[in-house]
Order: sequence, then structure tokens, then C-alpha cells
Amino acid sequence: MNSSNDVAGPSISRIAIVGGTGAEGRGLALRFAHAGVAVTLASRSRDRAHAAVADLKQGRTDLRIEGQDNGAAIAEHDIVLLTVPFAHAAALIDEHRSRFRAGSLLIDVTVPLSFEGGRPRAVDVAEGSAAEHLRARLPATVAVAASFKTLPAALLARVGEPLDCDEFVCGDSVDARQRAAAVVRSIPGLRAVDAGTLEAGRIIERLTLLAIQINRRYKSHDARFRVVGI
Ligand SMILES: NC(=O)c1ccc[n+]([C@@H]2O[C@H](COP(=O)([O-])OP(=O)(O)OC[C@H]3O[C@@H](n4cnc5c(N)ncnc54)[C@H](OP(=O)(O)O)[C@@H]3O)[C@@H](O)[C@H]2O)c1
Repeated sequence: MNSSNDVAGPSISRIAIVGGTGAEGRGLALRFAHAGVAVTLASRSRDRAHAAVADLKQGRTDLRIEGQDNGAAIAEHDIVLLTVPFAHAAALIDEHRSRFRAGSLLIDVTVPLSFEGGRPRAVDVAEGSAAEHLRARLPATVAVAASFKTLPAALLARVGEPLDCDEFVCGDSVDARQRAAAVVRSIPGLRAVDAGTLEAGRIIERLTLLAIQINRRYKSHDARFRVVGI
């Protein structure tokens, strides 16, 4: 493991985003595509995926985004980001468990929270975090990392605006963290910060809640994090 403030790792060329038709998945797809990464935007419905892709590309042939159904996207990629609501993440993983490639990496983006009376609340997870919840459901041959959990969808969608922030990365092995960090770094303006094992997901997921609360107080949609001193 590189001991510097940014985790070392290879560059990446293609990813799949499962649940990619939502705000977070679409925003990430846009940022990756603008960075030259080939993106497969996946949905339960291939038609919905294709519609989202057409909407994102707006006729631009230089952006490499294609639509696919969730199962096929998982089977065809070595790096899969998961951007579905946390409440449905386990069922999705259970449904597609056997389709994950041996040696592939799942990057969990889900945040266990609910909105009660319009207020965000953390949802307690038996395993400790969403990331550990998903780890428990996947074969050992699939590596699990968590990242992109503190990146606001509203800002991701405004591709002309710099992100200029850090993104925490945790994972179940050094290799998982290095690979996830490379995915983070492929988007300009993002620095990957190594937060350690998947247990750190418990803290990172609470930081998303904090960002939402800060947004409310400051009437913003863009609160995010920068670590100083490393
Ligand atoms: N929004 C943010 O700013 C933000 C920031 C950081 C992290 N996150 C996390 O990222 C994830 C996605 O957020 P989002 O706002 O994009 O969510 P969303 O729009 O509510 O959902 C994303 C996609 O999940 C799929 N989905 C919905 N219900 C499903 C089910 N029962 N089974 C399987 N797939 C289902 C849908 O795609 P199809 O119907 O096309 O299959 C939907 O478009 C969440 O876990 C959220 O906590 C969000």
C-alpha cells in the first residue's frame, strides 16, 4: 500500500453503473464519460437505460455511454458501481450474485438513510454499514470497496463545474482500495483518500447524512468534503 495521501493504483478504462438511471448514477456516468471512461449505464429495464443514455449524451457521439440491463452489465464488467437505494441493494445483489465475475470489484455507493417527515435519518444496518452488508452477500472472489458516497448528485450533473474535493475510499483489501482509488482518480477534481477497511463505511455513510444536514442549513445542494493535513 502506498503510504502517501492518495492511494496508488492502475488507471481504468471501463465501468458499469448498476441502478445508473437515478440521479447519482447518471451524474457519475456523465463525469466518467467526460473523463474518457467507457460507461455502461444499467437498469432493471434496458429501455429505461437506453432512454437515460440518450438523455445524457444529447447526441454527443464522443461520450462513450451505453445502456444495458443490470444482470448483463454485471456479467460483462470487472468494475461495477452500485447506485440503487440501500433498501433494495441486498435483493439486487442476491438476484445477480452468480453473475459477478471472479476477480471483479463492486464499489458500493449506497447510503443507508431514510427520510422521515422530510428529515434524513440513518438506518441501522446489522453488519455495521451498507458496504459490509453487501460484502456479506457476495462471493469471496468478488472484491468490495465503498466510495462516491459523499458526492452530491446535483453537482455531478453540472459537468462544467469542478468537483474539487476528496472522496473517501474503503475496501476489504489493499487491492480493492487501490482499484477503487484509481476509479475515483479517473474523474478530474477528485482526490481519493484511503479510509481503511470496510468498517470505515460506518463513518463515511454518516458523513453523507451530515452533508445533507449542512446543505439544508446553508440552502445548498453541493456540500462535500476535503481532508487537510495529509
Ligand atoms: N443522490 C445523491 O446525491 C447521492 C449521493 C451519494 C450517494 N447516494 C446513494 O446513491 C444511491 C442512488 O441514489 P439516487 O438518488 O440516484 O437513487 P434513486 O434515483 O432513488 O434510485 C436509483 C436507481 O435505483 C433503481 N432502483 C429503484 N428501486 C429499485 C429496486 N427495488 N430494485 C432495484 N433497483 C431499483 C432505479 O433504476 P431502474 O428503475 O432503472 O432499475 C433508480 O433509477 C442511493 O443508495 C443513495 O443513498 C446518492
